[in-house]
Amino acid sequence: MIDMADYYYYETLDSTNSEARRKINEGIKLPAVFVADRQTAGRGRRGKSFFSDGGLYMSLAVDTKERDTVLITTIAAVAVAEAIEETTGSEVGIKWVNDIYLEGKKICGILCEAVSDLSGKTNAVIIGIGVNLNVNVFPQELESIAGALNAPTLKREELAKAIAEKLLVNLRETSDIISRYKERSIVLEKSVTYEQNGNTFTAKAVDIDDRGGLVVIDHDNRKTVLSSGEITLRTK
Ligand code: BTN
Repeated sequence: MIDMADYYYYETLDSTNSEARRKINEGIKLPAVFVADRQTAGRGRRGKSFFSDGGLYMSLAVDTKERDTVLITTIAAVAVAEAIEETTGSEVGIKWVNDIYLEGKKICGILCEAVSDLSGKTNAVIIGIGVNLNVNVFPQELESIAGALNAPTLKREELAKAIAEKLLVNLRETSDIISRYKERSIVLEKSVTYEQNGNTFTAKAVDIDDRGGLVVIDHDNRKTVLSSGEITLRTK
């Protein structure tokens, strides 16, 4: 059975993830999708802000009572990539964990946040997605890394619906999600750097394990599985 979501549209919000959390706390029916044309306080991962003007900013809030949440970020990346491919025909790549790339530039970021009760139990998850749909001008510090989907005829609402529907299907049908993720990975077989306990390491990305972790092998053939964090792709 496919869940039917309720959609809420806004011109401007502080953050669609924040709005989703407020509405969950008010007790709205889930799943629900919050879509804004711009955000005044868009959040990225690791406390960063997310440039939020000219794109699609949306959050899908889902009840997690009957779901396993381990693979949520992996599922989200695959769903967004598949929805973009189906609506635009563009082939996109996934940079671990869940950044979406087109022609070497990041066109979409995903921020998953848990909503827990006082005992710490996760009751809902908010999957926040920012797609640079037709963004032409980026702040200077983003110019070299950020790109846009540039699909002028694709309406925000259409892409939002395609992403939310794909997410709801993929959240139920997770069987081959890792292979669909791997098909689109832009990091496998590449040299990457990552940080652990304040140290920077270089290794080769060799696999994605069944929990969405990135398997890397260093110069001494030591294997490490990264379960979260940021990696940088080395260019040489
Ligand atoms: C990242 O790349 O660091 C993740 C960015 C996630 C941005 C989206 S935009 C919609 C939702 N609302 C937010 O405040 N953040 C997410």
